[in-house]
Amino acid sequence: MTYQTVQGEDVPALGLGTWQITGEDCYEAVRDALEIGYRHIDTAQVYENEDDVGRALADAGVDRDDVFLVTKVWPSNLAPENLPRSVERSLDKLQTDYVDLLYVHWPSGDFEMNGTMEALRAQQDEGRAHRLGVSNFTPDLLEAALDRAPLFALQVEYHPFLDQRELIGMCRRHDLLFTSYSPLARGAVLESDLLDTLAEAHGKHPAQVALRWQVQQDHVAAIPKASSEEHRRSNFDLFDFELSPEEMDAIFELARGERVVAPDSLAPAAWQ
Ligand SMILES: NC(=O)c1ccc[n+]([C@@H]2O[C@H](COP(=O)([O-])OP(=O)(O)OC[C@H]3O[C@@H](n4cnc5c(N)ncnc54)[C@H](OP(=O)(O)O)[C@@H]3O)[C@@H](O)[C@H]2O)c1
Repeated sequence: MTYQTVQGEDVPALGLGTWQITGEDCYEAVRDALEIGYRHIDTAQVYENEDDVGRALADAGVDRDDVFLVTKVWPSNLAPENLPRSVERSLDKLQTDYVDLLYVHWPSGDFEMNGTMEALRAQQDEGRAHRLGVSNFTPDLLEAALDRAPLFALQVEYHPFLDQRELIGMCRRHDLLFTSYSPLARGAVLESDLLDTLAEAHGKHPAQVALRWQVQQDHVAAIPKASSEEHRRSNFDLFDFELSPEEMDAIFELARGERVVAPDSLAPAAWQ
């Protein structure tokens, strides 16, 4: 496993995403991931699988403190009067007293910068969230959030087809973890000739090359979702090869402004 060192702490650079895996499938996926060696699990209130993740963690026989557990507060729970109760519900489902990282999922719905960030800080003060983060924030929103709360992380879409150098640069300057969601562009990376060629050169799979390219970047972690065991194993098998600077640069050239997640009802105006 590779770690990203952020604010003096080592965070596993590869995690398991769990969007669209629920019920027993999610339970089995998280149990299996923990057995493979994953120690960073990403869920969210809206995924409706926090209780499955919680059961898997409880049964896995892995020390809770060894897992970097992440959840996200949905926009309808972001009003200061609702946020604490919603976090309490998440912790109950996850069968834990704290999450390692608690995100604002989207700056939308009941999100209000001052009130929401203050409510988030209170969760940290009360020990329910060890660290705070924001997801789907633009550079301007991130700057404003940083003025109001001691953030640890930003989670946004990132893969070879989407240039995120501005936000990654901000994360490095402010010593924040940059977590890539949809790091495989929901499967589209498998259609790239360049990634195919590099994969062949390294005896790897194109998905592994895309993920390696991300975790090889300073401050960047990736959380691919894999409901199949084969994919979970393959995605974890990234730490025995390295991309050269030239290969890294060639992959940066693939950026073409492609977002695979941009729901009209949630996305910041700057994306429209
Ligand atoms: N903060 C946010 O707003 C936000 C938004 C989107 C996602 N996320 C987080 O990011 C995670 C990952 O993003 P995502 O689920 O959108 O997409 P993704 O991880 O880019 O892609 C998932 C897809 O790729 C397939 N796949 C995984 N590993 C593969 C491999 N080695 N070879 C071939 N195909 C492979 C999966 O198939 P199988 O499932 O069949 O294995 C699935 O169809 C989510 O699960 C969620 O935790 C956060």
